[in-house]
Amino acid sequence: MTGVPRRDGPGGGRYGEAVFRPEQAGEGERVDFGALAYDDITMARLRALGAGPGWRCLDVGAGTGTVSRRLLDEAGVASVLAVDRDVRFLTGRAVPGLDVLKADITAPDFAPGRFRLVHARFVLMHLPEHDRLITRLAELVAPGGVLVLSDAVDLTSDRTPGTPYTAVMRAMWQGLGATIGTDVSWVPSYPHLLRGAGLVPVAAEIHVPPLLPGSPISRFWADTWERSRAAMLATGLVDDAAVDAAIRYLGSDACAALSAGMLTVWGGKPEEAAIGTAVAWGTRR
Ligand SMILES: C[S@@+](CC[C@H](N)C(=O)[O-])C[C@H]1O[C@@H](n2cnc3c(N)ncnc32)[C@H](O)[C@@H]1O
Repeated sequence: MTGVPRRDGPGGGRYGEAVFRPEQAGEGERVDFGALAYDDITMARLRALGAGPGWRCLDVGAGTGTVSRRLLDEAGVASVLAVDRDVRFLTGRAVPGLDVLKADITAPDFAPGRFRLVHARFVLMHLPEHDRLITRLAELVAPGGVLVLSDAVDLTSDRTPGTPYTAVMRAMWQGLGATIGTDVSWVPSYPHLLRGAGLVPVAAEIHVPPLLPGSPISRFWADTWERSRAAMLATGLVDDAAVDAAIRYLGSDACAALSAGMLTVWGGKPEEAAIGTAVAWGTRR
């Protein structure tokens, strides 16, 4: 794609460049730990929204493609277009119905068609131009279709106990924000933003995976901290010893903390002629 207007993070970086580089050993496994923690929740929601035979789906920032493949294998959708700026984790095994597109979704000419389902998980929170992208993704939903966005919500507050976990989590959000522009502070505004993009009705749910020693989400955070260690140290909020202590804490029975949650928000694109579709979305569980 040409003419990409880069709106980089404050530190001049983008996801996959300054941090979370896909070519770095183990990055696919890190993304898969996140997928293991959340895929069942995602699939349950997508199926409850009707994803199934006949649906053409777009998976934006598909990562290692676990949701794309499960849509085909379990929900039996007709096709999935899996898009990512780096497709190395998507091209390994040919899957009937799975098409892979290497593209930057922030490009002005990103226009892969219209889809019954447009899905993006843990992608927009890393992109400074999230507001424009929500409008753009809503435009890619076919009449009668649905946009489903999932991103992280930070559940720490001023009263959260000052454990090693809390200190490092705060440093992580601040460090990723300064480096690549990650910003989860606006994620709770998704319902409002989807409604503003013309989708109706809109609804949301949140899932917080349990932080148990050795669990996929605990391993995901430990690995994420290792990979973003330089960005965290640059905040001045933590030092190497604090990061090491938090990783040990996460892997121990002493751990008593809340993971960041996953907020999933969905909104339907009304049929051009049939108001009844909007009513149907509203009554789905
Ligand atoms: C945290 S991973 C999430 C992967 C997957 N959606 C999941 O939930 O398992 C973020 C993904 O978004 C992709 N990504 C980030 N910025 C992108 C962009 N501008 N265009 C396309 N893909 C992008 C990354 O390459 C990465 O695969």
